[in-house]
Amino acid sequence: MKFFIDTADVAEIRDLAATGLVDGVTTNPSLIAKSGRKFLDVVQEICSIVPGPISAEVAATDYKTMLAEGHKLAKLAKNVTVKVPLTPDGLKTCKALSSEGTMVNVTLCFSAAQAILAAKAGASFISPFVGRLDDIGSDGMILIRDICAIYKQYPAFKTEVLVASVRHPIHIVESAKMGAHVATMPPNVLRQMFQHPLTDKGLAAFLADWKKTGQSILEG
Ligand code: E4P
Repeated sequence: MKFFIDTADVAEIRDLAATGLVDGVTTNPSLIAKSGRKFLDVVQEICSIVPGPISAEVAATDYKTMLAEGHKLAKLAKNVTVKVPLTPDGLKTCKALSSEGTMVNVTLCFSAAQAILAAKAGASFISPFVGRLDDIGSDGMILIRDICAIYKQYPAFKTEVLVASVRHPIHIVESAKMGAHVATMPPNVLRQMFQHPLTDKGLAAFLADWKKTGQSILEG
């Protein structure tokens, strides 16, 4: 399973990329606004930090302008993935960009029917938003299960399931059990994944006992 970080905060991206566990980054207009930086500058900087796919979202809603924006974003760096919304014009843009060899991430997916359309449009990634479904009293993980099951029936579909709107490590664990290809998570969720109180307790006990031996591995 690949791990993407869902943020436009370059300090966070640098910090987490140093773990060696970050395979890509996703941004969206809200995250760009939160960064307070110029969109094109921040995307270019992220592309230089993480060599994997970096999602940058178009801002237009009509095909012609989305395509033009997609072309401009794709020129920023080799690893830019153009993100388009799951609308008829978005999927038309997806089809055009994909056939030119540009990676496309179709975002704002809330149904299996929409995911089928994105795969047919040649998307590299489909982004089902699990947290936002949970927020309205639905179960986001059912959507991941359905999309994974459907895509497995059609080996010709090359679209990867990119679990988005992740709120906690259980979303990651459940997605991994279902065979989702990628999860994009806020930095705090990746940090939470390292944590277990028994790891902390066990390490403290091992270190205390090791100290009693008076030994040093490097100087022994
Ligand atoms: C995905 O690419 C989106 O940027 C993101 O996961 C949205 O998450 P949110 O529902 O926490 O805003």
